[in-house]
Amino acid sequence: MPRQCLLSHGIQLSVDYATDEDQSACRNIISDSAAAGKDNVGIDEFSDGMANRLDLLLTLSQVFAVRDTKTNTSKAFIIVASSLYARTIDTCLASLFVFRDKDLQSDGDIFDQLLQLAIYFAQALDLGYTSAIYSVAACAHDVVQRLRRQGFIRVATIPCGVRIAGVGLCDNFFMVKSLSPTTRPRRSVDELHRDLDKVYPHDQCYETYQASVLPTADFLPAKYIFANGLAVVCRNMKKQEDGLIYEIWKSAAAEGLGYGIDEIPTLSIFRMEILLDHYCIVFEEIATGNIVGLTLITSSCYSRTKENRFGESSLFIKKEFRGQKLGSEAIWIELALMKQLGFKVSLNDTLASNHRMMASMQSSRVKYPSAWLFVGVIPDGCYAEGYGWDDQVISWFDFQSHPHIKNFTELADETLNRTISKL
Ligand SMILES: CC(C)(COP(=O)(O)OP(=O)(O)OC[C@H]1O[C@@H](n2cnc3c(N)ncnc32)[C@H](O)[C@@H]1OP(=O)(O)O)[C@@H](O)C(=O)NCCC(=O)NCCS
Repeated sequence: MPRQCLLSHGIQLSVDYATDEDQSACRNIISDSAAAGKDNVGIDEFSDGMANRLDLLLTLSQVFAVRDTKTNTSKAFIIVASSLYARTIDTCLASLFVFRDKDLQSDGDIFDQLLQLAIYFAQALDLGYTSAIYSVAACAHDVVQRLRRQGFIRVATIPCGVRIAGVGLCDNFFMVKSLSPTTRPRRSVDELHRDLDKVYPHDQCYETYQASVLPTADFLPAKYIFANGLAVVCRNMKKQEDGLIYEIWKSAAAEGLGYGIDEIPTLSIFRMEILLDHYCIVFEEIATGNIVGLTLITSSCYSRTKENRFGESSLFIKKEFRGQKLGSEAIWIELALMKQLGFKVSLNDTLASNHRMMASMQSSRVKYPSAWLFVGVIPDGCYAEGYGWDDQVISWFDFQSHPHIKNFTELADETLNRTISKL
């Protein structure tokens, strides 16, 4: 990579790949900015429970250090990452980050130059990125304006999505810029699996899965009777159901319904990234013991703060049970589960191609029209079978101000006097 030279108020800067030694300087710049509420870094974005997020960012991304050529100290970092928001491993969306130390933070021109380099690196890296996304707090006016000037367009606004020191909870924008006029070709399945098996080796992932405790909801199991009389028990998944549950996920993805074909390409990834990180709650028909559907609930990837506990869910109704209006009812079940699990806001997404889910959402909000808002889209975030590159439509729903959203236990109890047709 050619070393790039930039000037900031007489300081000459050079850019190169970051080394392992740069990691602590990068962490310091990020934590100082977070504490000072500067440079678009959230106060709890990379700290405490989210420390893992910073580790992931620094280890799985391309990190470039910007050094003072005289003193050889790191003054800024540029990061180009496979986007955390994309719902495919084989992503065409790059997340860009620019972090500056306090000497450079008031220098807008240097931000412009660093951003231009970030765009250039995302294009030059042979990773197939065709769009770039930048996540920016609405209060970081200067950054927003400079992104706009570089051709980034706001595609989503997450209410209260980030917490900036000295400001408090603040809206967060996703801004996107196209990097290439061509559509990204997908990598072959063999190539993808070769790379993924290195990061998620089957035996090691299996051992970790077996040795770990799955997240569970302590208020389950509970009986629930759907409006059509179908009686189910809602329960935490059993550890040995991992393969079965992955098959349900895969079969929806293979049908091109709701999930990307490369979203979770192997069982090892499913165990590590989904089952160890999500509450997996299964709806089991009492009369037959068949699984009717399930939901996977976790913290939302679209939030940059732990405050307000944003939750997201992935819903499945098995093929043989679809078309009976269970989906729209299950959406309310998910919200009640989220509430009882301590989440305050649902911040979720649905693929634009997923007509059934969109219809379910529409019909489930007939009674409460203000239930959720669609707050934007992530373009080209996911590749759906039979459809191609697809957009993720983001929905936001603050159920603290909606008293009709009950805890699940209460909701389930209220259904018990419904007609039980299948018992
Ligand atoms: C999405 C899903 C949960 C909906 O559950 P369901 O039990 O099938 O839902 P419903 O019976 O309430 O039907 C949903 C709506 O889709 C409509 N629908 C049915 N078949 C459809 C089709 N082929 N194309 C478009 N819409 C269709 C129904 O008419 C209904 O709309 P309405 O309420 O306005 O009449 C279920 O289909 C599913 O698990 N799909 C695969 C995984 C998935 O997409 N999960 C959601 C990810 S965000």
